Amino acid sequence: MANDLNVSSASRRSFLSLSAAASVALALRIVTEPMLARARVHNFPKDAIRIDANENPLGPCASAREAAAAMVAQGGRYSFWLTDDMVQTLAEMEGLKPEQIRVYPGSSEPLHHAVAAFTSAQRSYVTADPGYEAGMFASNAIGTTVVKVPLTKSYAHDVKAMLAAAPNAGLFYVCTPNNPTGTITSHSDIEYLVQNKPKDSVVMVDEAYIHFCDAPSAMDLVRAGKDVILLRTFSKIYGMAGLRCGAVFARPDVLEKIENYGGWNAMPITAVVAATASLKDQQLVPERKRINARIRSQVFAWLDRNGYSYIPSESNFFMLDTKRPAKPAIEAMAKQNVYIGRIWPAMPTYTRITVGTAPEMEQFQTAWQKVMSGAVTASVGAPPISRRRNLDGLVIPA
Ligand SMILES: Cc1ncc(COP(=O)(O)O)c(C=O)c1O
Repeated sequence: MANDLNVSSASRRSFLSLSAAASVALALRIVTEPMLARARVHNFPKDAIRIDANENPLGPCASAREAAAAMVAQGGRYSFWLTDDMVQTLAEMEGLKPEQIRVYPGSSEPLHHAVAAFTSAQRSYVTADPGYEAGMFASNAIGTTVVKVPLTKSYAHDVKAMLAAAPNAGLFYVCTPNNPTGTITSHSDIEYLVQNKPKDSVVMVDEAYIHFCDAPSAMDLVRAGKDVILLRTFSKIYGMAGLRCGAVFARPDVLEKIENYGGWNAMPITAVVAATASLKDQQLVPERKRINARIRSQVFAWLDRNGYSYIPSESNFFMLDTKRPAKPAIEAMAKQNVYIGRIWPAMPTYTRITVGTAPEMEQFQTAWQKVMSGAVTASVGAPPISRRRNLDGLVIPA
């Protein structure tokens, strides 16, 4: 086992040599799902139903809670070797070498830093529309052109259109299941993108929600040494959004470019041991996947019975059609203490709903019925705006 005086990795040593990238890193504000979900809201009232930010109401599993609690007393030390242990666990599970893995406090940081490393005014950022916005904010912050390509009719990434739209691409962002639609882009489409992309560009596959669905991971492309960056987070199925842990997987030379913008900072050790314990819990993923699928299909059955349209999702969230501009419905739901997600400009009548617990989804259904029947409106006034979380000063991608 290593200890904190034995910091031998070349990457860790090289963090001392600041590069030109440092100024970009300092300028780059990390945009996360809660910032996007809660830009307009709020200190939640007591007992609020929070199904707006794709969080996991189950929280960390029992062994993760125990591991984190037991670690608190040692919080006075950096204990880098705990991160090495976590990397080793991930490496064994995924059939990778530890040099192909970096751990961060969430996957938002490597996402932003990869955009900074591989895009520029000359090399565009190519993403799906609607898609997860964080990389677009990073692109705008550093002056990269954002190329948004509509999803296909089945809500997959249109990889051929993405290739055609950006011969100068620096990074293709593929989120599967896609946030916000919860839909899958097939492995063969991702492979096609990797095979046909411009030289020196990379494909970033964001698998934040992969454990909720049956689709195969793109990890085999990392194992094969392709120009692929794969992101995973412990914020979703593992229920650790507030503890903060994520990982990026890629070839060592690709990871080094990402690290120029930040990385190898000490991890919160409570999060690291909780993540390691979660990985070792063989029941966690199948059990939570089953729970989520069961509640989601109950909600879909209810929506079907009541004639509401939605996009069938394979994740822990889905897009629901209000059949009118969605903002008043979101505000009317908040008036009933049910906080649902935001709107994407490409789908202005839809709003994103996170799958919560069964009782939470029952409250959602009752409130939704009232809002859609016009029994409740938002006329009492909009929810208060949080000063801390608003996105003023950040350029929202057009
Ligand atoms: C698609 C996607 N990628 C990445 C993240 C990053 O999450 P975190 O920084 O909590 O790991 C999120 C969070 O919601 C997400 O939805």
